[in-house]
Amino acid sequence: MLRIQTPLPDRYTTASAEELANWISEAKEILGSRLLILGHHYQRDEVIKWADARGDSFLLAQIAQESVATEIIFCGVHFMAESADVLTGDHQNVILPDLNAGCSMADMADIDQVEEAWDSLSEVIEIENLIPITYMNSSAAIKAFVGRNGGAVCTSSNARAVLEWALKQGSRVLFFPDQHLGRNTGFEMGFKEEQMLLWDPRKELGGLTAAEIEQSTLLLWRGWCSVHQRFTPAHVEKFRADHPNGEVIVHPECSHDVVEVADRVGSTERILNWVQSAPPGSAIGIGTEIHMVQRLAAENPDKTIVSLDPLVCPCSTMFRIDAPHLAWCLESIIAGDPVNRISVDPSVSEWARVALQRMLDIT
Ligand code: 13P
Ligand code: SF4
Repeated sequence: MLRIQTPLPDRYTTASAEELANWISEAKEILGSRLLILGHHYQRDEVIKWADARGDSFLLAQIAQESVATEIIFCGVHFMAESADVLTGDHQNVILPDLNAGCSMADMADIDQVEEAWDSLSEVIEIENLIPITYMNSSAAIKAFVGRNGGAVCTSSNARAVLEWALKQGSRVLFFPDQHLGRNTGFEMGFKEEQMLLWDPRKELGGLTAAEIEQSTLLLWRGWCSVHQRFTPAHVEKFRADHPNGEVIVHPECSHDVVEVADRVGSTERILNWVQSAPPGSAIGIGTEIHMVQRLAAENPDKTIVSLDPLVCPCSTMFRIDAPHLAWCLESIIAGDPVNRISVDPSVSEWARVALQRMLDIT
C-alpha cells in the first residue's frame, strides 16, 4: 500500500542528536500524562529510549487499549498503529511518526485478494465451516473482513490459542498473511504437512484442487517476512559449532526448517524474557530483527548474545522511525496541529474491533 510521507521540515533534518533529545524530553514533560509513547522491540535505540512502554505487538495493543492518554505515539509500523486506533476511544489520537513505516508482509494480502479467495472457496466448500484468522500484521480492512466472517486476529504470542479456538468454531481455517506462523503453529498443534496447504493468491483457486481443499485443515496464505526468511538451518548449525552449549531462539515468522532445529520459538516479548532469565555465561543465538538482538546483547553483557545471521538486514520499515520524526510529531501535538494521525474509518473499525476483541478474549 502506498502511503506518502511528506518531507520533514529542515528544523528536524538539520538538528543534532543532542538538540533532538532536548526537544523530545521537553515535549514529553509538557504533555505529561496526556501522552503515551509505545515502542516495538525492533525500534532503534534513539527511539526506544523514549518509549513509556515496550513490547511485542500483542502487549502493545493491550497497553493501548487500557491507556487513558489522549495522545498515543506508536513507534512501530502501520498495522500496529491502526490496531491501537481501533482499540482506543474517539477522544484518543494515535500517531505514527512516519507514514511510510508499513510492513511488507502485511502488504502481501490485500482486501480484494482476500475477498476473491473467499468467493472462490465458497464455490467448493461449505463456507460457514471455514474460519478466517488473520495475523496482526494485516490491514484494518482485513481485520474487519475477519470480524464480519466469524474469525479473529492472532499474534505470534497467541497463534496456537486462536487456532484452537477457530477449530472449535469450524472445521477449517484460512490463515493469512504469514504462511510460516501458520505452518509452525500447525505443526506445534500436531497437524501433518498434508493437512496444511499453501494458498497462492495469484493462482486460480489458490493453486489447489477442490479435493485438496476439502481434505485440508489449514489453508496458509502465501506470505512471508523478508527479514525472518533470511534465517536458515545452516545459520543454526554454525552457531552450534561455535557455541556447543548455546541455545537457539527464533521468531515463529522463520521458516519451519529453522524452527525445527531451534530450542525455543516465540514472540519478541518472549524472546526478551527468555534472554533476561538465562543464567550469566549463557550463549544465545537469536533469529529475529537485528536492532532487538543488538539491544539484548548490550543489555545483557554477562551473556553472549548473537544474531544467527551475521549479515542480517534490519526491518527497513521499522527503521524509518527515528528521533527527527518523533520530535516532529511531539511538537506538532504541542502546537495543536498533530501530524500523521492514524484514523481507521468507523465502518471498518467496528468489525476490526470485533476481530481484535475476540483475540483479546481468547487469550
Ligand atoms: P511480535 O508480535 O512478536 O513483536 O512480532 C511482530 C513482528 O512484526 C515480527 O516481525
Ligand atoms: Fe513486517 Fe517483517 Fe518488519 Fe515484522 S520484521 S514488521 S513482519 S517486515
